[in-house]
Amino acid sequence: MKVSTVNYSGKISDVRLSGCTVIVIDVLRSSTCIIWALRNGAAKVIPAVDPGDAASMHMVIGGDSVLAGERGGVKITGFDIGNSPMDFTASTVKGKTVIVSTTNGTGAICSASSAPCVLIGGMINKTAVAKKAIELGNDVILLCAGTDGEVSADDICAAGAIAQAIYDNCGNIEYQQNDMTFIARELYKDHFSKRTDLSRTKHWRRLVELGFSADVSFCLTEDMTDTVPEFASGIIQ
Ligand code: MLT
Repeated sequence: MKVSTVNYSGKISDVRLSGCTVIVIDVLRSSTCIIWALRNGAAKVIPAVDPGDAASMHMVIGGDSVLAGERGGVKITGFDIGNSPMDFTASTVKGKTVIVSTTNGTGAICSASSAPCVLIGGMINKTAVAKKAIELGNDVILLCAGTDGEVSADDICAAGAIAQAIYDNCGNIEYQQNDMTFIARELYKDHFSKRTDLSRTKHWRRLVELGFSADVSFCLTEDMTDTVPEFASGIIQ
């Protein structure tokens, strides 16, 4: 099983995705929010690249849906909730269809739609998503959403955490990795042992400036849930 870490930069070729399980990671905060919404009983999550498309879907679906999303970390005007895991409580999402549009995360998810299996990963489900990928048996692409086409260290660190969990749990299956996964695992180890300080990185600092320090701590908490969302035919369940 080969584990490749790839940064999302607008497009990933169908050939690259063929035969692979893709785990989409936008640890701060989109993938974490989606995992948390389903963990808290949302019926499904529909990712939209464009906020206008999300709002149109919300109009069509009506009262049983919740419109969520951000641009630049800030809740989109007129939307029901933003992109904080604290917004996706059971009282808000239970039994509802959540329609979500975020700056980078939802685009990364939609870009992987041709892969045979697309999972949503984060720190909060790192072991569960790793075990699911092992069970599926395909090569794995850890698709990091990043920020506006650039690498985001928080996503690489979460990719490293998931790759490490795959390595730790894959038993007799031969584990291989690309160099980006090597870097991701090293970064995760340094983060875990507090040898490196990710609070100096761009998106982390931006969220703290916006008052979302609690979100950052939440999103980096490991193994809070066994929920492993799967994206197929435009729907995450
Ligand atoms: C994104 O999709 O770029 C992020 O989830 C932004 C955020 O932290 O809200």
